[in-house]
Amino acid sequence: MIIKIYNVNLIDPFTNKEGVVDIVIEDGIIAKLNFKSSDINDLVASNSQIIVVQPDFIEINGEGLYVFPGLIDMHTHLREPGYEYKETIRTGTLAAVRGGFTSVCCMANTNPVNDNPEVTYYILAKAKEEGSCDVYPIGAITKGLKGEELSEMIMLKQAGCVGFSDDGMPVMNSLIMRRALQYSKAIDAPIISHCEDFTLSENGAMNEGKLSFYMGLKGISKAAEEVMVARDIILSKYSKGTLHIAHVSTKGSVELIKRAKEEGIKVTAETCPHYFTLTEEALKDYNTSAKVNPPLRTEEDKEAIKEALRSGIIDVIATDHAPHSLDDKNTPFEQAANGISGLETALALSLRLVHDEVLSLNKLIEKFTVNPAKILKLEKSGIKEGQEADLILVDINKEWIVKKEDFASLGKNTPFDGWKLKGKVLLTIKGKKVFNMLKEDK
Ligand code: DOR
Repeated sequence: MIIKIYNVNLIDPFTNKEGVVDIVIEDGIIAKLNFKSSDINDLVASNSQIIVVQPDFIEINGEGLYVFPGLIDMHTHLREPGYEYKETIRTGTLAAVRGGFTSVCCMANTNPVNDNPEVTYYILAKAKEEGSCDVYPIGAITKGLKGEELSEMIMLKQAGCVGFSDDGMPVMNSLIMRRALQYSKAIDAPIISHCEDFTLSENGAMNEGKLSFYMGLKGISKAAEEVMVARDIILSKYSKGTLHIAHVSTKGSVELIKRAKEEGIKVTAETCPHYFTLTEEALKDYNTSAKVNPPLRTEEDKEAIKEALRSGIIDVIATDHAPHSLDDKNTPFEQAANGISGLETALALSLRLVHDEVLSLNKLIEKFTVNPAKILKLEKSGIKEGQEADLILVDINKEWIVKKEDFASLGKNTPFDGWKLKGKVLLTIKGKKVFNMLKEDK
């Protein structure tokens, strides 16, 4: 298969190169990368410029389109093994490539939990067989996510885990967290902390405040997150471990991370598109598709998160793709599962930050590529001649309507159904695996 894309804008934060290029990809390898100008050409693309010639030969006039390195989602729930009715490695990675991700890091809250090498090997083997993109397992910090006993972190790392997290469950015991951080230093893999003090949050269903009071629901205070962010920063300083804070949702957490970074403590952080797009207001009609943990917060938090993305306090945008079945969500609000199916809307939601001039396109793509790769020490080097093609072709101005029934993910749980978004992935290339969305998105 030969793919030629000419006159396309390339932004590659791995090589620090940007400009107008011609790219030729032959059998999954970048055969030619020819720089024509170092200026981005901000034309608006038109459908007529895209020519699909034959099934094994594609030629595209890339004027007004962009090529980026394949996106990396460092926080995905693929649900396999154990919860295949919510998602499988096959469907989750199909959703990934539709959303522009060529690498996903899958969380350990499967059944069995990914707390031993057998589960890690199973995930890797399944991904090789049925996956559409690279899959990097995240191992559990504690056995069974129970927070009582450390998992065999060294063995998990050797088996292929790139980081450790009890995501979905907090590690309440500070001594265990301290030890996990000590190990993270020894094995050179981060602890990805789901910051939630269970004694403060238990049975909460949404952000604590006026709205939770009016809706008659038990709230989860911002303190439930911030107490643990503060604890983990202190433990990271004390142990010199590598700490990554997952799904930051509050202004207070941002302030704690800012102070820690200023002090030189080894901490990085991620947020997710729903935290800079929505507030608790999205739950007003008891809409369970917007029920997520940590919960959607207030306007003030949303704006603080945007500012933290702009200033670099938050390093990464991750999806926290949390697919659930209809039965998991069509329940009374308090009982509904937490989570948003995020892989297929993340890029377009995040591009709003570029269209609204919060972030430059380059900075946005950094948060989806080079930053997660650095944190997890993934072997990624961007778009270079002679290397496997790991890239996406995007029309950042193309408008489309989110239709949950069109998701490749089994999880149709999105609060963005029916939204008009701007920015669409047209082609995702991961070596020989090519996902051609040119036809379906006409
Ligand atoms: O909303 C969430 N869903 N937050 C988490 O931390 C876990 C996730 C899940 O596994 O469904």
